[in-house]
Amino acid sequence: MNWSFWKKPSLIAPPSSPTVPLLSRAGSSREGVGRAGRSAEDWLTALPRGYRKYKRPARAYGMTSRNELCFLETYARDVFTGQGKIVDLGCWYGATTLSLARGLAANTRALNHRTIQAIDLFEWRPWMDESARKASLPRYLPGQSFYEDVKQLLRPFGSLVSVEKRDLLEYVPPPEPIELLFIDAMKSWDLAQKIISSFFPLLIAGKSCVVQQDFAWYNSVIATNHLLMWRLRDHFQWMHHVPNSCSVAFLCTKGFTASEMPSLSPDSFTVEMVEEAYDYCRNCVSSDMQIVLEIAKLGFLLSQAHVRAAHQQMERLAASTRGLPEHMLEEVRRAVRGCPAAKAESAGDPVVTWLAEIEAWASTKPAPKRRGFFRSWRAKESTCAAPSPVALPDPKAR
Ligand SMILES: C[S@@+](CC[C@H](N)C(=O)[O-])C[C@H]1O[C@@H](n2cnc3c(N)ncnc32)[C@H](O)[C@@H]1O
Repeated sequence: MNWSFWKKPSLIAPPSSPTVPLLSRAGSSREGVGRAGRSAEDWLTALPRGYRKYKRPARAYGMTSRNELCFLETYARDVFTGQGKIVDLGCWYGATTLSLARGLAANTRALNHRTIQAIDLFEWRPWMDESARKASLPRYLPGQSFYEDVKQLLRPFGSLVSVEKRDLLEYVPPPEPIELLFIDAMKSWDLAQKIISSFFPLLIAGKSCVVQQDFAWYNSVIATNHLLMWRLRDHFQWMHHVPNSCSVAFLCTKGFTASEMPSLSPDSFTVEMVEEAYDYCRNCVSSDMQIVLEIAKLGFLLSQAHVRAAHQQMERLAASTRGLPEHMLEEVRRAVRGCPAAKAESAGDPVVTWLAEIEAWASTKPAPKRRGFFRSWRAKESTCAAPSPVALPDPKAR
């Protein structure tokens, strides 16, 4: 097993260093150019400064962080060329859509496809209450629709935004090219497969950017992001990990045909494939956040009843010098309890043994300080707290 990832420097090392320009260079007035005629690479280079300067827009109610909104807004403003549209999957209360719309409103070079298609079920779930409370949003009941409220919030952006209430498990997108695909809806394997088979064939080779918003997150189901991006690695090049956030961006380097799509079911991944996938994926995120991928990997191995490999993975985690914050430990406990094969594995009750091992491990390791990945976890959970409501934004304002 390769444990070198624990020692990686905090700089992000992409799985394959770009040898070709990441995005096409600024050219004609219809091409993607920076605000002051900069190339997309220059935009990426300038992003750290942009992150420092960016202020979360008023009324950007969402679960995404300020850095993620900065990435989206500056992409739409400085890079988007109009060769395809922008699609925001799982937009919830519209923070990402609003930031994209601010960027697009300020982008006067892109002449075509000036649309952000924002898709969600817009059906309230109890887990949304906490985010709503922090953002002082209205209270909704489980199952209640908040579609009209999000539409109202985004109305100032007029025709730039199309807010659509759709179930991604059933929706078939129109055959129009997509230049930016922001994904925050891969919350199950069924959804992941549907999103990939429906939307990825619409990506433009050498141009489109896919942002996996859950990539640096630790729930077992986030293995969808990891295993699928590894499986499709010949079609993508790592582009950027938005600092202190879960979002990782990839450039589509090679197009898809439906017939090329490999089997993407969770049971199609062997233990060896999982190992290889995580060797690839952990290099897509900053070193302080690689631990979240290790937790997701453990959860996936357990969910697929790869008990031996899961136990090895757990031992590796336990052997590390770092502790886990309580919420991650709780996810590990949950994954162990939820693995039926762990119970049946041998005489006695291995789950009890495993849980005891986890508690022993937890008691010897101090919880990490609130830095790095811990802060980003807080971002995921709590940065929905937008500035208190003010007048609706001016679509032209930046
Ligand atoms: C974590 S939230 C998205 C947060 C949002 N991107 C933000 O920045 O605030 C995930 C969203 O996925 C949506 N979703 C889940 N399953 C879906 C489905 N089958 N079709 C459409 N949207 C779905 C949920 O309604 C929820 O709003």
